[in-house]
Amino acid sequence: MNYAASRLSAVQPSASAAISQTARQMKAAGEDVIDLGLGEPDFDTPPPIIEAAYAAAKAGQTRYPPNDGTAALKAAIIAKFARDNGLEFTAPEIIVSNGAKQIIYGALATTLEPGQEVILCAPFFDSYENIILALGGKPVIVRCQPENDFRITPEQLDAAITPDTRWLFLNYPSNPAGAVYNAEELQALGEMLERHPHVLVLADEIYEHIIFGQHEHISLAAVCPSLKAQVLTVNGVSKAYAMTGWRIGYAGGPQPLIAAMTKMQSLISSGACSIAQAAAAEALNGPQDEVERFRVAFERRRDLVVAAVEAIPGMNLPAPAGAFYALIECRGLMGAAKADGTQIRTDTQLAQYLLDEAGIASVPGSAYGLTPFVRLSMANSEQNLAAAMQRIQASVAKLTLPAVD
Ligand SMILES: Cc1ncc(COP(=O)(O)O)c(C=O)c1O
Repeated sequence: MNYAASRLSAVQPSASAAISQTARQMKAAGEDVIDLGLGEPDFDTPPPIIEAAYAAAKAGQTRYPPNDGTAALKAAIIAKFARDNGLEFTAPEIIVSNGAKQIIYGALATTLEPGQEVILCAPFFDSYENIILALGGKPVIVRCQPENDFRITPEQLDAAITPDTRWLFLNYPSNPAGAVYNAEELQALGEMLERHPHVLVLADEIYEHIIFGQHEHISLAAVCPSLKAQVLTVNGVSKAYAMTGWRIGYAGGPQPLIAAMTKMQSLISSGACSIAQAAAAEALNGPQDEVERFRVAFERRRDLVVAAVEAIPGMNLPAPAGAFYALIECRGLMGAAKADGTQIRTDTQLAQYLLDEAGIASVPGSAYGLTPFVRLSMANSEQNLAAAMQRIQASVAKLTLPAVD
């Protein structure tokens, strides 16, 4: 009996979830594995946020919430968009969902006709492609090269747009490459998008607060106010406030789009968990010092990993500008021979080697649409990261590297 609809056959299980599952099984069997697969902060949700949830539950906020979000959380989101991003929204232009992932799914489920195209900038968050495929859309993959810091150029964007393009997904700081855009670059992309008013833009800014050095996060919608009718700005509390399990994401965009997404959401979940919404409101309204503490910790870890990769032949890691992943280029290891004489030919094989030989769970770049890379999640302690990098270095040292000409 075939239970799944045919459109689901194109969907691949999430590579990072699969690797983490293997790592968990290995750990349960007593093996010494450091899991650098999954992308969730290793910090605890700050206590005032937990207190706010408890208070909400005790105060009776336990009934069905509005489909589009509670008034209190919407007010907090409006204030946050104004404070952090220079964006002005009214309540009907805001929607709250169970995680940014549900926002993304909802946006596409609401707007996509079968066969319509969604432009993805590789390397991209692997769920994007699967959501598009699950909904019968067509992913159009633009490969963004390390030479351009993994950013899409206006020329690449222009070449990718067709009359069937429905969305461009722009994620920055990006998972997995940590790519960011400055105001000029956003302006140039914005000018291109203005010429194609049929293209909607999903600006996934969920890593906005995890940004390093001189880089600063700038919202596309703020740089290009003329794109107001085209841009859906997506965010959430998972990454900035260590709240992955609370499942709250949100978006601001054109009111008719939000209204249509709300209609769709009423069919999916009747809104997001009321108690988690109270917690998210506290996260956005309350003191922001924990966000900065997490950011500083991620920057230290990034520096640690970048320095460690410098000492590993065949691997290359320009310092990521944001997010908490290290996307390590490993072209120099393709063709390397293991002790048993077999060769590593793909990044998937390299990730498997790192798991078998070093006990390190990583995700191959092929999961994100660009090879040959491995992604390490830096959402782990400095101690674990230092140990992991030593183990990776030792396992690479056991390989016979291909001759460099
Ligand atoms: C780029 C990006 N967008 C969205 C999400 C989903 O976040 P949420 O936990 O809010 O569903 C993730 C999670 O890994 C992500 O990396």
